Amino acid sequence: MKEFKILAVIVALVAVTYYGIEPYAHHVMHPEPAPADYAFSDLKNVDTTLKGDVANGKVLVEANCIACHSIEKEGYPAMMSDSDAASSYGVVPPDLSSAGHLYQTNYLANFIFDPVTASNLKHKYPEGGAKVHPMPSYNWMAAQEIMDMVAYLQSIPKATYVSESEERRADFIDACGRCHSMAYAGISARTPGDVAKAYLGATPPDMSQYIKSRGRHYLENFINDPQRLLHGTGMPRVGLSEEAQTHVIDYMEEIGDAKKAEREDLGWKVMLYMLVFAVFALLWKKQIWRDIH
Ligand code: HEC
Ligand code: HEC
Repeated sequence: MKEFKILAVIVALVAVTYYGIEPYAHHVMHPEPAPADYAFSDLKNVDTTLKGDVANGKVLVEANCIACHSIEKEGYPAMMSDSDAASSYGVVPPDLSSAGHLYQTNYLANFIFDPVTASNLKHKYPEGGAKVHPMPSYNWMAAQEIMDMVAYLQSIPKATYVSESEERRADFIDACGRCHSMAYAGISARTPGDVAKAYLGATPPDMSQYIKSRGRHYLENFINDPQRLLHGTGMPRVGLSEEAQTHVIDYMEEIGDAKKAEREDLGWKVMLYMLVFAVFALLWKKQIWRDIH
């Protein structure tokens, strides 16, 4: 009986620490951010209820965007090599073939209207400051024209992929690959690290192991809005749709934590073994102490 009393005291102490003190300390020192907002409801410069005209959007994109951005799927090649583009703009402008599927509509429209506000980099590019964002704002355009361009980008058909993994990889490269490498997957950043550092103030780290060091939950919130978790960071908000962001994180998990499924499958077997072992241990103890008690 005495042993059970000791056990009860230990269980009570552990429970108080685990369910009381630990969450409280976490809550005070590391408050939980608001959940990821896939509607990007802080961005309200463009009326996204307007229906875009694809043909006019194509004309506008040709006139305004392809000087910097390639759209390989539509036959607009890159105007310069990655290294020249990196030194001209500070970072390689992404290919826009998949932009209509990667970026959430409200984000995409507002990013074209004003890249600094949409990507949450006002602290890097204050109004009237010496530094300007490498992509111009199109805030002089009518909302209808911006929605036309969005409609055109969204009309570009999705590439066909041989596997889900290939699609996730493509999304990672299109959304993150201009800045981040992922050595374990053989992906090199399109912008050289030192150039990106001069542009953003920090070298974008290799993404191979971030799923392990940060975990899924952190990544979901971080990509959706880096400023909330790393205040003052130079990483722009990349306004991915929920689907595209899930692809990116799934790919990081596939590469960085390939044994997750195996590990989880083994977990319950180990617990079962411990349970059976505990029963035998108890019986054995009883047998040994039977004559002494
Ligand atoms: C003068 C060059 C230039 C022009 C013109 C330009 N862009 Fe960009 N754009 C960039 C650069 C550079 C980046 C990368 C910025 C970064 O990653 O910080 C970028 C990024 C983007 C992104 C990625 C947004 C994100 O959050 O990841 C989209 C989408 C985009 N541009 C669309 C457009 C569209 C549509 C047009 C035409 C209306 C356009 N751009 C015109 C240089 C340009
Ligand atoms: C325009 C360049 C750029 C793009 C695009 C970009 N990042 Fe980053 N990222 C950075 C920089 C710079 C840092 C370093 C930030 C710092 O230390 O302040 C960073 C840091 C990070 C970190 C580390 C955060 C931490 O807690 O230390 C993660 C994770 C990350 N990025 C994920 C992503 C993912 C996933 C994508 C694609 C959806 C992406 N990034 C797109 C530039 C970029």
